[in-house]
Formats: sequence, structure tokens, C-alpha cells
Amino acid sequence: MMKISILTLFPNMFEGVFTESIIKRAIENKKIDIEIIDFRKYSKDPHGKVDDTPYGGGAGMVLTCQPIFDAVSAIKTKDSKVILLTPSGKPYKQKDAYLLSEEKHLIIICGHYEGFDERITSLADYQISIGDYVLTGGEIPAMVLVDSITRLIPGVINEQSHIEDSFREDVMNGTYLLDYPTYTKPRVYNGMEVPEVLVNGDHKKIAEYRYQESIKKTKEVRPDLMK
Ligand code: ADE
Repeated sequence: MMKISILTLFPNMFEGVFTESIIKRAIENKKIDIEIIDFRKYSKDPHGKVDDTPYGGGAGMVLTCQPIFDAVSAIKTKDSKVILLTPSGKPYKQKDAYLLSEEKHLIIICGHYEGFDERITSLADYQISIGDYVLTGGEIPAMVLVDSITRLIPGVINEQSHIEDSFREDVMNGTYLLDYPTYTKPRVYNGMEVPEVLVNGDHKKIAEYRYQESIKKTKEVRPDLMK
């Protein structure tokens, strides 16, 4: 079973996200083990301090080395990969989710406040950003990683067919197509109709229609994926 350890100052933020829906079921079914660690408890400061003012001046507080180094060294094994979440990291892609879903143990460090002491990066196998925007901390990015990884673990969602295998290959090459549009009942809603081809039961035509729609959508929205 894959294990994910999350180092955070705000363990309560994970309530809800990990106690509902597919992640909850994956935990119950022992597909994944998630451990939330409040790294303040590793602080050797008498008041549990975990941050300090930056050398050279500047606004805000910076996470110090000691609590995070001690937390990582307490839980790290030879099977662990350490991920540091930071807006200065490498942009996170579906390909990374696939690669990380094959690891045995991930340790995810959530930064907070104005940043962390640069020496903390020496602990990291990967520095990851979930996108080109700045959040208040690494907690929401950690949830994004856990969600995207969990759904790829075999048996978590019943979607791992042969179609998925070729899709995975394309994702790894960065040449995949966006999803085609789907519809459900009713056939007409507020005057908007479901495309005729989908209700005629001609599966060859349906497959061709979906493929063309995928191409059209990808060209429109993400031409960079087509190459
Ligand atoms: N911490 C703050 N913003 C972030 C981002 N975009 N990705 C990862 N970690 C972050």
C-alpha cells in the first residue's frame, strides 16, 4: 500500500478533503495510507516556534530548518521520496501524477508564511508548483497532489481499461487530446439538444464523432498539446 506523509502546520485543513468521496474510500479500502504530521511538534524551541525573520531584511516570517529537518529524518526511509511544494517548483503535470503514483512513500512538505529557509530545498527529491499563482501555503497543493495520485492507484476508480493505457502513453509524451463532450438525459434541456449521432446507437460513428470533437476542442483550447 502506498503511504503519503504530509508535513504541515495546519492539519485541520485536510479534514473534509480526505474524509469524503473517493479518497475516503481509498483509505478505507487500504489503497492508500495518509498520515498528517504537525511539524510544530518537532520544534526544539520552548514555545514551539517554527519561523523567524529573514536575514538581509524584508517582510514576513520564514520557516526555519530545524523542525522540518527533524520531522523528515524521523519518518524518512530508503523507500521515501520527499516533495517540497513551492510556487518556484517545477509545474505539476498529469505525467508527474502517474510517476508519483508508483512510489511507495511520499513525504510532502507544505511551506507557509512568506517562505522557507532555502536550505530546506536540500531535503527535496522534487520541488513542485501546482500552477503559476501564489497560494497562502502548500496545503491546498498537497491536496491536489494526493487527489490526482490517489485516483491513479489501481482499483481506486474503475476506469483503468486498455483505452486508459494508450491515453497514459500519450500523457507521458505530452501529446494527448482533451476529453470529448458527454451528455446525459434528458435529450432536450432548455432547448439545447444532445447531438443526434449519440442517440442512434452506431458505435463506429460515435467513436469517430468523439475523436473529432476531441481534436476540435484541443486545437481550440490547448494547441500546445497536439504537436
Ligand atoms: N505554495 C504557494 N503557492 C504554491 C503553488 N502555486 N504551488 C505549490 N506550492 C505553493
